[in-house]
Amino acid sequence: FLTTMASSFTVCRLHMRGRILSKRYCSSALSSAEKIECKSLHALQVERQDQAEKSVLISCQSRTSEKKFLKFLSKHGDIKKYFFYESYGVYAVVEFASRDSVSSLLESATIPSISQESIVPFKSRLLSIRNLSSVNQQLNRKHLGFLLLGCVEQQILSLTKAYQLTEENSRLRFLVCSLLKDIAAAYFPECTIRPFGSSVNGFGKLGCDLDMFLDLDSISGVCLQPKSGFSLEYQMKRVNSERAITQSVLSVIGECVDQFGPGCAGVQKILNARCPLVRFSHQPSGFQCDLTANNRVAMKSTELLYLYGELDPRVRSLVFTIRSWARSHGITSSIPGAWITNFSLTIMVLFFLQRRGPPIIPTLDHLRDLAGPEDRSMIEGSDCTFVRDFSKIQLQNNTETLEQLLCEFFEFYATFPFSRMSINIRKGKEQNKPEMSPLHIQNPFETSLNVSKNVNSTQLDRFMALCQESSWLLQQNKTSTPNNTPTPWGLATLLLPSQVAGIKSGKKRRREPASERIKSLLESLKKQNQEKTG
Ligand code: GTP
Ligand code: MG
Repeated sequence: FLTTMASSFTVCRLHMRGRILSKRYCSSALSSAEKIECKSLHALQVERQDQAEKSVLISCQSRTSEKKFLKFLSKHGDIKKYFFYESYGVYAVVEFASRDSVSSLLESATIPSISQESIVPFKSRLLSIRNLSSVNQQLNRKHLGFLLLGCVEQQILSLTKAYQLTEENSRLRFLVCSLLKDIAAAYFPECTIRPFGSSVNGFGKLGCDLDMFLDLDSISGVCLQPKSGFSLEYQMKRVNSERAITQSVLSVIGECVDQFGPGCAGVQKILNARCPLVRFSHQPSGFQCDLTANNRVAMKSTELLYLYGELDPRVRSLVFTIRSWARSHGITSSIPGAWITNFSLTIMVLFFLQRRGPPIIPTLDHLRDLAGPEDRSMIEGSDCTFVRDFSKIQLQNNTETLEQLLCEFFEFYATFPFSRMSINIRKGKEQNKPEMSPLHIQNPFETSLNVSKNVNSTQLDRFMALCQESSWLLQQNKTSTPNNTPTPWGLATLLLPSQVAGIKSGKKRRREPASERIKSLLESLKKQNQEKTG
């Protein structure tokens, strides 16, 4: 009853956040999952990649019997970990203790004969299981009501906890990369596909896109040193630019994904962008995927962001909160345009944290100065060197609370001299603007570039006005706590639609004053609370 899924697999819904239905760890797996927290990004990636290669993704009928499912699969070997999740149907991620079990399972799978459709002869580790009788699954949904309770500090921590990527979501991301690698390996057997961006930099929110990097370095970077009088040289086609190679590699892989990738839909090749990419939707996981190649600087910025996030727990929480705040006010958007991107916004938060007295995180120049020879990295003429051993980094003693930092962040950017100054995390100090874009944020590694070149003055004005309003709202919270409510309701008010939102469409919307909106929110929360306790 196990079948391989061919590319004829079709699912209709496109955007839905996966929900975890049930999960099981053996005790040793749990303790190693906990240890992952303090690993370097490289070590974490190696471990996750290994797990992914021993895993399969199985589409189940919605009422699959967990017991029978496991009994059936364990015929092929020990199962190290598995979990079910829901996204366009119920799926299971199953990690075996050994790769042989995956081969054995694939051997046993049958190719279904479908009357109206034909099958592309390309096997993958995405399988479908049938004929198992039903048992109800317990849903393990996250209740977010608690988000609105407690002081600002607690609200920020709850928000981060509720929306950050889970262990399972992270594993699924690596598994999708590994499934994609199986496809790309048809052309490039030694390639690797690595996730980057918010899937691994520690700032990812459930539902964020999956940025993937097709790494061909093990093939093209190999340089055989002549040991005897002979020198061996691979015979490779020569093309006049790196960009042209990237474009043709992505073009064939994009074609392959489109033609042979089970569950991959809506494939778009965007090869003329500054950074060429293939975009598609991976339906079984629900991830929107961007596949790039030859994008090593982005891998480095991912590593840098990860490092900053690891240095102090306030970094992630603040970035997370500001990203959520920006998203709820339409400061950032999933559609490309003149908006501030999550990447730019994250750099703005990091810069703000460098400007605290004393600074919470060090400058990039300082991280470069601490680097040893093993950390040296030059990519296409850009110096991407910074220390990777966390223990060499000494932090200063800053004891500000998350609530203070949130408030100060809004004040800082409500009055920042954007018209003259550039944001620069390398120096940790604003610099004179080298060009006239409304918002100038120096690219940390390719220092002549502005990561926010796309932002127009309308969007920047909205950002500043919202910072002003949010700073004001937080101050109000401090001075006037509503009756019968023991806590300020700070973050909840910040995530509400704002007065300034009307600027976006140019329409003047009639809105009640913020105090009224807060009052009605509090009333409804009180009512909910009474219902729960009564
Ligand atoms: P999400 O919005 O959650 O996807 O955040 P993200 O950090 O993944 O951003 P995005 O998917 O837009 O980009 C992925 C990665 O590419 C980022 O984390 C950066 O490392 C890099 N990146 C994005 N935009 C820029 C840019 O303008 N310049 C440079 N140098 N790198 C960028
Ligand atoms: Mg991304």
